[in-house]
Amino acid sequence: MVMSETTGEKLWGGRFSEQTDTFVEEFTASVNFDRRLYRQDIQGSRAHAHMLAHVGVLTAQECERIIDGLDTIQVEIESDRFSWNTALEDVHMNIEARLTEKIGEVGKKLHTGRSRNDQVATDIRLWLRESIDKILGELIRVRQNLLNIAERETDTIMPGFTHLQIAMPITFGYHLLAWYEMLRRDTARLRETRHRVNVSPLGAAALAGTTFPIDRAYTAELLGFEAVAANSMDAVSDRDFAIEFSAVAAMIMMHLSRMAEEMIIWSSTQFGFIALPDRFCTGSSIMPQKKNPDIPELIRGKTGRVYGDLINLLTLMKGQPLAYNKDNQEDKEPLFDAVDTVSSSLRALADMLPAIEVNHGRMYASAREGYATATDLADYLVRKGLPFRDAHEVVGKAVRRAIELGCDLSEMDLDELRKFSSLINVDVMGVLTLEGSVAARQHYGGTAPEAVCARIREAWSELENE
Ligand code: ARG
Repeated sequence: MVMSETTGEKLWGGRFSEQTDTFVEEFTASVNFDRRLYRQDIQGSRAHAHMLAHVGVLTAQECERIIDGLDTIQVEIESDRFSWNTALEDVHMNIEARLTEKIGEVGKKLHTGRSRNDQVATDIRLWLRESIDKILGELIRVRQNLLNIAERETDTIMPGFTHLQIAMPITFGYHLLAWYEMLRRDTARLRETRHRVNVSPLGAAALAGTTFPIDRAYTAELLGFEAVAANSMDAVSDRDFAIEFSAVAAMIMMHLSRMAEEMIIWSSTQFGFIALPDRFCTGSSIMPQKKNPDIPELIRGKTGRVYGDLINLLTLMKGQPLAYNKDNQEDKEPLFDAVDTVSSSLRALADMLPAIEVNHGRMYASAREGYATATDLADYLVRKGLPFRDAHEVVGKAVRRAIELGCDLSEMDLDELRKFSSLINVDVMGVLTLEGSVAARQHYGGTAPEAVCARIREAWSELENE
């Protein structure tokens, strides 16, 4: 069997009378994936060693040797000179064994008053906190890009849809602001989650605390945690924070997927509203004319992974009795996957957005095709005294006639329109144009260019003060 290259025996080997089965060793090991936590593991160990010296469990000299040893190990790992060993199971025991190998007996004192249970919980929280900060950065970048484009497109008229049928004219800037709002809420949710991630389990030890006079506030402060977990059993077994993060990540992916879907539809030949830059697309190996919207398609496609990660974690936790169980080792891969997927999707979107070409002519022409101002005509009749239901009926008939004539409502002569209601007068023309229709919706949250500009200004100041 593969033995620890460093010690030749397990760090927990004391009570065992035979060696671990080779397959079991591989089956139980996590080092292949949890080595990704090496930096946080060393960071947590440094804080723990400093605290042990602070309360007099280690001498200052012992602490210094441990810290130096950890520093060298970090350099070894980062320069790819560290040999990871499956027989040592996980990142924690690989680093600890190497420490003792490097600095001798004193290395064995590092684990005083600590367990891998609080150690791993600390590592994941530190890792996730950093990951959340990176994701927040990407979310902000997407939001800034959306506001920049919205600013440029406040007067760009396009059709707004319900049931993917042309509904009313809107502006493209307004549509982008709808995307912006989704991501604004996601940012707030992620910031909320960060507070619950940022709590220190360190000192909980295996499950019940320790007999040493540890100072948990001291390590929490060194590690930048906002609070100390109040119950040690909960501290080592709680993975709510990972589930909560994954739920927020799933929501972000759901939003990105909706945006991606619209970009895919808009960039099709039939719509032609936008063109995605060549450097974000690929071609077909057989059809020479093809330019495929791979980035949005992959964002849409990757959404399922993150939903899966969330369900994975929820299921992982549902049957576990308190406190730590080995099941918890299975928390890392879905969490890593959720972080990687949401980060890379946001990054791809942030990079691509500013390069999207907008086809104003196609958007405008499409808005003119779908009788998008029919509701404006009904509202006009209501202002002239007709009850809305009757107005709806009148306009429905006018639209049917326009379809027969093959023209837009705004292209019908006044006499033709008056056949449907004598309330219609020459002033109707202002109402039937696309420009008139959007300009009339100027209340807060409306699509009028003025309202869109006001919301953009408000959004910039929200972004600055978040
Ligand atoms: N590799 C383990 C994990 O990821 C570390 C904690 C092990 N604790 C234990 N009691 N076996 O959860």
